[in-house]
Amino acid sequence: MPNRDQASNLRRKVQATAVPAAPNREPRTTPDGTAVSPTPRLHTIAVTGGKGGVGKTNIAVNLALTIAQLGGKVGILDADLGLANVDMLFRLNPRYTLKHVLTGEKTIEEILLEGPLGVSVIPASSGIQALANLPESNRRQLIAKLSHLAHILDILIIDTPAGIGDNVMSFVLAANEVVVVTTPDPLAYTDAYALIKLISQKEKRRINLVVNMVRSVAEAREVAEILEMVTKKFKLNISELSFASYLPYDAKFRHALRKQVPFILEYPESRSAKCLLILAKKLLSVMTRNSHRNDFFANVEAFQSNQMAAQKQSE
Ligand SMILES: Nc1ncnc2c1ncn2[C@@H]1O[C@H](COP(=O)(O)OP(=O)(O)OP(=O)(O)O)[C@@H](O)[C@H]1O
Ligand SMILES: [Mg+2]
Repeated sequence: MPNRDQASNLRRKVQATAVPAAPNREPRTTPDGTAVSPTPRLHTIAVTGGKGGVGKTNIAVNLALTIAQLGGKVGILDADLGLANVDMLFRLNPRYTLKHVLTGEKTIEEILLEGPLGVSVIPASSGIQALANLPESNRRQLIAKLSHLAHILDILIIDTPAGIGDNVMSFVLAANEVVVVTTPDPLAYTDAYALIKLISQKEKRRINLVVNMVRSVAEAREVAEILEMVTKKFKLNISELSFASYLPYDAKFRHALRKQVPFILEYPESRSAKCLLILAKKLLSVMTRNSHRNDFFANVEAFQSNQMAAQKQSE
Protein backbone atom coordinates (compact mmCIF):
# COMPACT_ATOMS: atom_id res chain seq x y z
CA MET A 1 0.00 0.00 0.00
CA PRO A 2 1.21 3.53 -0.71
CA ASN A 3 2.52 5.40 2.29
CA ARG A 4 0.00 8.23 2.36
CA ASP A 5 1.83 10.33 4.99
CA GLN A 6 4.97 10.29 2.93
CA ALA A 7 2.99 11.00 -0.22
CA SER A 8 1.33 14.01 1.38
CA ASN A 9 4.72 15.22 2.66
CA LEU A 10 6.00 15.11 -0.86
CA ARG A 11 2.90 16.90 -2.11
CA ARG A 12 3.41 19.65 0.46
CA LYS A 13 7.05 20.04 -0.56
CA VAL A 14 6.17 20.56 -4.16
CA GLN A 15 3.11 22.75 -3.71
CA ALA A 16 5.00 25.73 -5.04
CA THR A 17 5.44 24.15 -8.48
CA ALA A 18 3.14 25.44 -11.15
CA VAL A 19 1.34 22.93 -13.34
CA PRO A 20 0.64 24.43 -16.77
CA ALA A 21 -2.75 26.07 -16.71
CA ALA A 22 -5.45 23.58 -17.61
CA PRO A 23 -6.77 24.12 -21.11
CA ASN A 24 -9.63 26.55 -21.28
CA ARG A 25 -12.74 24.39 -20.94
CA GLU A 26 -15.21 27.25 -20.66
CA PRO A 27 -17.73 27.16 -23.49
CA ARG A 28 -17.06 29.98 -25.93
CA THR A 29 -19.65 31.92 -27.89
CA THR A 30 -19.64 33.68 -31.23
CA PRO A 31 -20.53 37.42 -31.30
CA ASP A 32 -24.21 36.53 -31.84
CA GLY A 33 -24.16 34.37 -28.70
CA THR A 34 -24.08 30.94 -30.39
CA ALA A 35 -22.11 28.46 -28.30
CA VAL A 36 -19.09 26.98 -30.02
CA SER A 37 -17.30 23.97 -28.72
CA PRO A 38 -14.17 24.84 -26.77
CA THR A 39 -10.88 23.71 -28.24
CA PRO A 40 -8.80 22.60 -25.30
CA ARG A 41 -5.23 21.60 -25.90
CA LEU A 42 -3.14 18.85 -24.40
CA HIS A 43 0.42 19.12 -23.20
CA THR A 44 2.21 15.97 -24.24
CA ILE A 45 5.42 14.23 -23.24
CA ALA A 46 6.84 11.25 -25.15
CA VAL A 47 9.12 8.98 -23.12
CA THR A 48 11.37 7.14 -25.51
CA GLY A 49 14.93 5.86 -25.72
CA GLY A 50 15.92 3.70 -28.65
CA LYS A 51 17.10 0.68 -26.68
CA GLY A 52 14.82 -1.82 -24.96
CA GLY A 53 14.81 -2.24 -21.19
CA VAL A 54 16.36 1.13 -20.28
CA GLY A 55 13.44 2.10 -18.01
CA LYS A 56 11.06 4.03 -20.30
CA THR A 57 7.88 2.49 -18.88
CA ASN A 58 9.01 2.91 -15.28
CA ILE A 59 9.87 6.53 -15.86
CA ALA A 60 6.65 7.24 -17.80
CA VAL A 61 4.48 5.73 -15.04
CA ASN A 62 6.29 7.34 -12.13
CA LEU A 63 6.53 10.68 -13.91
CA ALA A 64 2.76 10.56 -14.51
CA LEU A 65 2.16 9.90 -10.82
CA THR A 66 4.57 12.67 -9.79
CA ILE A 67 2.76 15.17 -12.03
CA ALA A 68 -0.58 13.94 -10.66
CA GLN A 69 0.74 14.62 -7.14
CA LEU A 70 1.54 18.12 -8.34
CA GLY A 71 -2.09 18.58 -9.33
CA GLY A 72 -2.14 17.76 -13.04
CA LYS A 73 -4.83 15.63 -14.72
CA VAL A 74 -2.54 13.12 -16.33
CA GLY A 75 -3.04 10.30 -18.79
CA ILE A 76 -0.64 7.68 -20.10
CA LEU A 77 -0.92 6.38 -23.61
CA ASP A 78 0.48 2.90 -23.31
CA ALA A 79 2.12 2.39 -26.66
CA ASP A 80 4.51 -0.15 -25.17
CA LEU A 81 4.57 -3.72 -26.33
CA GLY A 82 7.15 -4.76 -23.72
CA LEU A 83 6.54 -7.09 -20.82
CA ALA A 84 6.41 -4.57 -17.98
CA ASN A 85 3.84 -2.35 -19.59
CA VAL A 86 1.73 0.34 -17.99
CA ASP A 87 -1.36 -1.84 -17.50
CA MET A 88 0.72 -4.33 -15.62
CA LEU A 89 2.44 -1.75 -13.42
CA PHE A 90 -0.95 -0.37 -12.47
CA ARG A 91 -2.46 -3.82 -12.05
CA LEU A 92 -5.05 -3.03 -14.70
CA ASN A 93 -6.59 -5.53 -16.98
CA PRO A 94 -7.81 -3.78 -20.10
CA ARG A 95 -10.63 -5.43 -21.97
CA TYR A 96 -10.53 -2.87 -24.72
CA THR A 97 -7.66 -1.03 -26.35
CA LEU A 98 -7.14 1.62 -29.00
CA LYS A 99 -7.85 -1.13 -31.52
CA HIS A 100 -11.53 -1.04 -30.51
CA VAL A 101 -11.55 2.72 -31.00
CA LEU A 102 -10.09 2.13 -34.44
CA THR A 103 -12.82 -0.31 -35.36
CA GLY A 104 -15.46 2.05 -33.99
CA GLU A 105 -16.62 -0.49 -31.36
CA LYS A 106 -15.67 1.84 -28.48
CA THR A 107 -15.13 5.52 -27.91
CA ILE A 108 -11.85 6.79 -26.48
CA GLU A 109 -13.64 7.59 -23.21
CA GLU A 110 -14.91 4.00 -23.00
CA ILE A 111 -11.46 2.43 -23.16
CA LEU A 112 -9.89 4.71 -20.50
CA LEU A 113 -8.86 3.00 -17.30
CA GLU A 114 -8.24 4.71 -14.01
CA GLY A 115 -4.94 4.12 -12.26
CA PRO A 116 -3.70 5.43 -8.89
CA LEU A 117 -4.04 9.17 -8.11
CA GLY A 118 -6.65 9.41 -10.86
CA VAL A 119 -4.08 8.87 -13.63
CA SER A 120 -5.89 7.72 -16.78
CA VAL A 121 -4.46 4.89 -18.83
CA ILE A 122 -5.20 4.53 -22.52
CA PRO A 123 -4.33 0.95 -23.40
CA ALA A 124 -3.00 1.08 -26.90
CA SER A 125 -0.55 -1.75 -27.30
CA SER A 126 -2.24 -3.69 -30.05
CA GLY A 127 -3.62 -0.57 -31.69
CA ILE A 128 -0.31 1.15 -32.24
CA GLN A 129 0.91 -0.95 -35.14
CA ALA A 130 -2.49 -0.69 -36.75
CA LEU A 131 -2.39 3.09 -36.36
CA ALA A 132 0.81 3.29 -38.39
CA ASN A 133 -0.75 1.21 -41.18
CA LEU A 134 -4.14 2.89 -41.37
CA PRO A 135 -5.45 4.44 -44.55
CA GLU A 136 -5.42 8.22 -44.26
CA SER A 137 -9.19 8.75 -43.93
CA ASN A 138 -9.48 6.27 -41.04
CA ARG A 139 -6.44 7.77 -39.40
CA ARG A 140 -7.98 11.22 -39.49
CA GLN A 141 -11.09 9.80 -37.83
CA LEU A 142 -9.07 8.13 -35.13
CA ILE A 143 -7.04 11.23 -34.43
CA ALA A 144 -10.26 13.22 -34.14
CA LYS A 145 -11.47 10.64 -31.61
CA LEU A 146 -8.22 10.78 -29.67
CA SER A 147 -8.32 14.53 -29.52
CA HIS A 148 -11.34 14.21 -27.19
CA LEU A 149 -8.78 13.50 -24.48
CA ALA A 150 -7.99 17.19 -24.40
CA HIS A 151 -11.37 17.70 -22.71
CA ILE A 152 -10.40 15.55 -19.75
CA LEU A 153 -6.63 15.74 -19.44
CA ASP A 154 -3.97 18.42 -18.97
CA ILE A 155 -1.00 16.24 -19.77
CA LEU A 156 -0.63 13.06 -21.78
CA ILE A 157 2.50 10.96 -21.34
CA ILE A 158 3.26 8.54 -24.14
CA ASP A 159 5.22 5.46 -23.20
CA THR A 160 6.79 4.40 -26.47
CA PRO A 161 8.14 0.98 -27.33
CA ALA A 162 11.87 0.56 -28.02
CA GLY A 163 13.20 1.30 -31.47
CA ILE A 164 13.10 4.10 -34.00
CA GLY A 165 10.33 2.90 -36.32
CA ASP A 166 7.67 5.22 -37.78
CA ASN A 167 5.14 4.25 -35.11
CA VAL A 168 7.56 5.47 -32.43
CA MET A 169 8.72 8.52 -34.37
CA SER A 170 5.24 9.83 -35.16
CA PHE A 171 4.44 10.02 -31.44
CA VAL A 172 7.86 11.38 -30.52
CA LEU A 173 7.71 14.19 -33.06
CA ALA A 174 4.12 15.04 -32.29
CA ALA A 175 4.70 15.46 -28.55
CA ASN A 176 5.53 18.81 -26.99
CA GLU A 177 8.43 17.43 -25.02
CA VAL A 178 10.64 14.43 -25.71
CA VAL A 179 12.29 12.56 -22.87
CA VAL A 180 15.11 10.32 -24.08
CA VAL A 181 16.02 7.64 -21.56
CA THR A 182 19.37 5.90 -21.59
CA THR A 183 21.54 3.97 -19.16
CA PRO A 184 25.34 4.23 -18.77
CA ASP A 185 25.65 1.17 -21.02
CA PRO A 186 27.43 2.26 -24.25
CA LEU A 187 24.93 0.21 -26.27
CA ALA A 188 22.10 2.18 -24.70
CA TYR A 189 23.57 5.62 -25.27
CA THR A 190 24.60 4.67 -28.80
CA ASP A 191 20.95 3.84 -29.48
CA ALA A 192 19.88 7.06 -27.74
CA TYR A 193 22.25 8.98 -30.03
CA ALA A 194 20.79 7.24 -33.12
CA LEU A 195 17.31 8.26 -31.98
CA ILE A 196 18.33 11.87 -31.28
CA LYS A 197 19.98 12.00 -34.71
CA LEU A 198 16.80 10.77 -36.39
CA ILE A 199 14.70 13.32 -34.52
CA SER A 200 17.14 16.08 -35.52
CA GLN A 201 16.80 15.09 -39.17
CA LYS A 202 13.03 15.58 -38.99
CA GLU A 203 12.71 18.58 -36.72
CA LYS A 204 14.79 20.89 -34.52
CA ARG A 205 13.76 19.90 -31.00
CA ARG A 206 14.81 20.08 -27.39
CA ILE A 207 15.83 16.69 -26.01
CA ASN A 208 15.30 16.08 -22.30
CA LEU A 209 17.84 13.46 -21.36
CA VAL A 210 17.38 11.09 -18.41
CA VAL A 211 20.25 8.78 -17.50
CA ASN A 212 18.75 5.83 -15.68
CA MET A 213 20.25 3.10 -13.49
CA VAL A 214 23.42 5.01 -12.62
CA ARG A 215 25.81 4.25 -9.76
CA SER A 216 26.59 7.92 -9.16
CA VAL A 217 25.66 11.40 -10.33
CA ALA A 218 29.15 11.62 -11.84
CA GLU A 219 28.38 8.59 -14.02
CA ALA A 220 25.13 10.19 -15.21
CA ARG A 221 26.93 13.44 -15.96
CA GLU A 222 29.59 11.61 -17.92
CA VAL A 223 26.95 9.99 -20.17
CA ALA A 224 25.24 13.35 -20.67
CA GLU A 225 28.59 14.94 -21.56
CA ILE A 226 29.43 12.20 -24.07
CA LEU A 227 26.06 12.66 -25.77
CA GLU A 228 26.44 16.43 -25.77
CA MET A 229 29.92 16.13 -27.26
CA VAL A 230 28.86 13.85 -30.12
CA THR A 231 25.73 15.85 -30.93
CA LYS A 232 27.95 18.96 -31.17
CA LYS A 233 30.73 17.20 -33.07
CA PHE A 234 28.30 15.92 -35.68
CA LYS A 235 26.38 19.22 -35.64
CA LEU A 236 22.98 17.65 -35.00
CA ASN A 237 20.10 20.01 -35.59
CA ILE A 238 18.71 20.14 -32.04
CA SER A 239 17.74 23.22 -30.07
CA GLU A 240 19.02 21.88 -26.76
CA LEU A 241 20.24 18.66 -25.20
CA SER A 242 19.09 19.19 -21.65
CA PHE A 243 20.39 16.83 -18.96
CA ALA A 244 16.98 16.78 -17.27
CA SER A 245 17.58 14.22 -14.53
CA TYR A 246 19.09 10.87 -13.62
CA LEU A 247 17.85 7.91 -11.61
CA PRO A 248 20.13 5.77 -9.48
CA TYR A 249 20.17 2.04 -9.97
CA ASP A 250 17.76 0.94 -7.27
CA ALA A 251 16.73 -2.67 -6.63
CA LYS A 252 13.49 -1.31 -5.14
CA PHE A 253 12.24 -0.73 -8.71
CA ARG A 254 12.19 -4.46 -9.27
CA HIS A 255 10.55 -5.04 -5.86
CA ALA A 256 7.84 -2.54 -6.71
CA LEU A 257 7.35 -4.20 -10.09
CA ARG A 258 7.07 -7.63 -8.48
CA LYS A 259 4.51 -6.31 -6.01
CA GLN A 260 2.82 -4.41 -8.87
CA VAL A 261 2.83 -1.22 -6.82
CA PRO A 262 4.02 1.98 -8.49
CA PHE A 263 7.48 2.79 -7.16
CA ILE A 264 6.78 6.41 -6.31
CA LEU A 265 3.86 5.50 -4.06
CA GLU A 266 5.80 2.80 -2.26
CA TYR A 267 9.04 4.77 -1.83
CA PRO A 268 8.10 8.46 -1.89
CA GLU A 269 11.14 9.52 0.16
CA SER A 270 13.69 7.70 -2.00
CA ARG A 271 16.43 9.38 -4.02
CA SER A 272 14.71 8.18 -7.21
CA ALA A 273 11.44 9.87 -6.17
CA LYS A 274 13.35 13.13 -5.71
CA CYS A 275 15.01 12.72 -9.12
CA LEU A 276 11.59 12.13 -10.71
CA LEU A 277 10.33 15.27 -9.04
CA ILE A 278 13.22 17.25 -10.54
CA LEU A 279 12.34 15.83 -13.96
CA ALA A 280 8.63 16.65 -13.54
CA LYS A 281 9.38 20.22 -12.46
CA LYS A 282 11.73 20.81 -15.39
CA LEU A 283 9.21 19.49 -17.90
CA LEU A 284 6.33 21.44 -16.41
CA SER A 285 8.36 24.59 -16.45
CA VAL A 286 9.33 24.28 -20.14
CA MET A 287 5.79 23.28 -21.12
CA THR A 288 4.39 26.29 -19.36
CA ARG A 289 6.79 28.51 -21.30
CA ASN A 290 6.14 26.82 -24.63
CA SER A 291 2.45 26.17 -24.33
CA HIS A 292 1.79 27.45 -27.86
CA ARG A 293 3.27 24.24 -29.31
CA ASN A 294 0.70 21.88 -28.00
CA ASP A 295 -1.61 20.61 -30.68
CA PHE A 296 -0.38 17.10 -30.29
CA PHE A 297 -2.93 15.25 -32.34
CA ALA A 298 -2.72 17.66 -35.25
CA ASN A 299 1.05 17.12 -35.12
CA VAL A 300 0.67 13.34 -35.26
CA GLU A 301 -1.54 13.74 -38.27
CA ALA A 302 0.85 16.13 -40.00
CA PHE A 303 3.81 13.81 -39.45
CA GLN A 304 1.99 10.77 -40.74
CA SER A 305 0.63 12.58 -43.78
CA ASN A 306 4.18 13.74 -44.59
CA GLN A 307 5.44 10.19 -44.23
CA MET A 308 2.76 8.95 -46.62
CA ALA A 309 3.50 11.71 -49.12
CA ALA A 310 7.23 10.91 -48.96
CA GLN A 311 6.45 7.23 -49.41
CA LYS A 312 4.26 7.93 -52.46
CA GLN A 313 7.01 10.08 -54.01
CA SER A 314 9.56 7.33 -53.62
CA GLU A 315 7.25 4.70 -55.19
N1 LIG B 1 16.53 2.97 -11.89
C1 LIG B 1 16.34 1.64 -11.93
N2 LIG B 1 16.98 0.82 -11.08
C2 LIG B 1 16.81 -0.52 -11.11
N3 LIG B 1 15.99 -1.13 -11.97
C3 LIG B 1 15.31 -0.37 -12.85
C4 LIG B 1 15.44 1.06 -12.89
N4 LIG B 1 14.63 1.52 -13.88
C5 LIG B 1 14.03 0.45 -14.42
N5 LIG B 1 14.43 -0.69 -13.82
C6 LIG B 1 14.03 -2.08 -14.14
O1 LIG B 1 14.46 -2.36 -15.45
C7 LIG B 1 13.52 -3.20 -16.12
C8 LIG B 1 13.13 -2.54 -17.44
O2 LIG B 1 12.40 -1.35 -17.16
P1 LIG B 1 11.23 -0.85 -18.12
O3 LIG B 1 10.27 -1.94 -18.42
O4 LIG B 1 10.71 0.41 -17.56
O5 LIG B 1 12.10 -0.56 -19.43
P2 LIG B 1 11.57 -0.16 -20.89
O6 LIG B 1 12.61 0.74 -21.45
O7 LIG B 1 10.19 0.34 -20.82
O8 LIG B 1 11.60 -1.57 -21.60
P3 LIG B 1 10.92 -1.94 -23.06
O9 LIG B 1 11.88 -1.43 -24.08
O10 LIG B 1 10.83 -3.43 -23.01
O11 LIG B 1 9.60 -1.27 -23.12
C9 LIG B 1 12.36 -3.40 -15.14
O12 LIG B 1 12.54 -4.62 -14.49
C10 LIG B 1 12.52 -2.26 -14.17
O13 LIG B 1 12.01 -2.55 -12.91
MG1 LIG C 1 8.50 -0.27 -21.78
